[in-house]
Amino acid sequence: MKPVRIAVTGAAGQISYSLLFRIAAGELLGPGKPVILQLLEIKEMAEVMTGTVMELHDCAFPLLQDVVVTDDPDVAFRDADLVFLVGAKPRGPGMARKDLLAANAGIFATQGKALNHSAKRDAKVLIVGNPANSNALIAIRNAPDLESRNFAAMTCLDHNRAVGMLARHCQVPVTDVQRIAIWGNHSLTQFPDLVHARVQGEPALERVDWDWYVKTFIPAIEQRGSEVIRLRGRSSAASAAHAALTHMRHWVFGTPPDDWASMGVLSDGSYGISEGIVYSFPVTVEEGRWQIVSGLEIDDFCRERMTVTEKELLEEREAVKALL
Ligand code: NAD
Ligand code: LMR
Repeated sequence: MKPVRIAVTGAAGQISYSLLFRIAAGELLGPGKPVILQLLEIKEMAEVMTGTVMELHDCAFPLLQDVVVTDDPDVAFRDADLVFLVGAKPRGPGMARKDLLAANAGIFATQGKALNHSAKRDAKVLIVGNPANSNALIAIRNAPDLESRNFAAMTCLDHNRAVGMLARHCQVPVTDVQRIAIWGNHSLTQFPDLVHARVQGEPALERVDWDWYVKTFIPAIEQRGSEVIRLRGRSSAASAAHAALTHMRHWVFGTPPDDWASMGVLSDGSYGISEGIVYSFPVTVEEGRWQIVSGLEIDDFCRERMTVTEKELLEEREAVKALL
């Protein structure tokens, strides 16, 4: 069977240390699909990269046909079917994700151009490196020959955090929680929406107290990344790798019936959100194509929060306009 070519950037970093092994074990595409890993790292990380590849070989994964290691994005992205753009500086304690724009934005301009030259025309590109939404916009604008719908920024980690927290609060299995939505930026201004969510088929807000939703749940999801950094001393890694796998599985195989995923995609003006920013919407996926969930009622409470996070994304876009 023809192997699937999967490019991962930042391959010697902490997210990749979980992600690569799970992809090679078949957790992304299933047990019937051989894969080739095409790994991009900077020269300075060559030794760590060699050690990681030794470990990949030492697992003797039956599905892993080949591992390519390079510091040239054109080589890493050549004929890639699926691309994980992870490689970027993470924030430390006390920083906001947008403080990383200056350090990371250039990476996504270079890699957008390389994707434009080298990746398959229908490659699916997931942007994980922060600030993920604006980095995704930079990659899109630098890859004019690829369809913008083939790029998405990762807000699946926020989505999974919200599912987990709501399920724990309601004391139900996570599989009983559906239709959570993360709107906007993967940042402190994101809006984790329970207004449309369901628990065991009932409206979530009939199962939780409004005060808990507004004063506990929303701030906890918004600040979860900072909390992990405060406690671990480093940013989330295993949960981020898991979210990257989940996002890509939804994109390739579809979202479960009656449920939604959250993805940062180029706004088409849905729900009155400005076009030309990468904004997280609730989506469903069928046959490899996402659709923004349409027809949701947006009350004043939701609108206010959706606008705050939109405004932040417009400001970030202004800050990187030289790269667009
Ligand atoms: P890390 O520092 O452990 O690894 C990053 C790796 O990227 C390093 O090995 C570095 O050498 C490499 N790198 C830097 N520039 C590169 C380039 N131009 N090409 C290829 N590789 C390059 O960081 P990490 O913990 O793995 O996190 C990676 C990024 O993901 C960070 O920006 C982090 O903030 C972000 N992140 C996003 C989410 C999300 O939900 N969207 C979640 C967690 C982390
Ligand atoms: C997260 O949400 O855990 C990541 O974006 C890392 C961070 O900087 O918070």
